[in-house]
Amino acid sequence: MTEIEWWEYDDADEMAEAVAGDIGFIIESAIDARGAAVVALAGGKTPLPIYEKLAQNKIEWKRVTIIPGDDRIVPLGDPLSNVTAIAKIFLPKGARVIPLVSDKAPDYKAAGRSADALLQDLHWPLDLCLLGIGSDGHAASIFPGPDYDEALNGPKERRALGVMPEPLPPEAPVARVTLSRNAIISAKALMIAITGQQKRDVLEAAIAEGASSSYPAGRILADVELPLDVHWAP
Ligand code: 6PG
Repeated sequence: MTEIEWWEYDDADEMAEAVAGDIGFIIESAIDARGAAVVALAGGKTPLPIYEKLAQNKIEWKRVTIIPGDDRIVPLGDPLSNVTAIAKIFLPKGARVIPLVSDKAPDYKAAGRSADALLQDLHWPLDLCLLGIGSDGHAASIFPGPDYDEALNGPKERRALGVMPEPLPPEAPVARVTLSRNAIISAKALMIAITGQQKRDVLEAAIAEGASSSYPAGRILADVELPLDVHWAP
């Protein structure tokens, strides 16, 4: 049974302040413990105010490695590119931001394999994995489709893979690279930040349904061993 703590805020700004504080604390603790931190940050638009506030923290950013928890397979600089949005905020601070998507991969499966190879060189497990939730119940880029089972139940050592969502999500109708379920749930801290009643309803249903959920989030989060913090604002 997954142990979940819900944190509710009056608005997205208040949530951003609190979540940025929590992430800052996790990063600083990792730096204190071993001189470096590795975190996966969610893509999409909801977490951007969190990142703006986090970047203002006095952290030794050069000791911090940031990866997007998933990315859309688009060129760097594309408005759909998660790493572009993250890099814009954290590169000027001196953090190391690693893209999961390389423009050299011939297809989405190969893109997933090269992301996995890249992540094999990082200190692991992640100090933190922050997830968002799509209104269709996906998290990271784990979607129904031909790669669903591999993303959820692939070999434990697989950190990332390529995914072709089926159907393609209308807000970003492209193939993806994503952390695997194992990579996500093995993180030392797991956090979700969402806004709006619709996503809250979807996440609550997903968690209640667990491993057999019709929503990817339910399957990802079922039987997670570490406590999960869910941050929510209307
Ligand atoms: C992605 C994401 C994804 C995201 C949700 C929510 O690239 O699609 O990382 O998992 O968290 O789609 O996105 P919004 O915050 O933009 O609604």
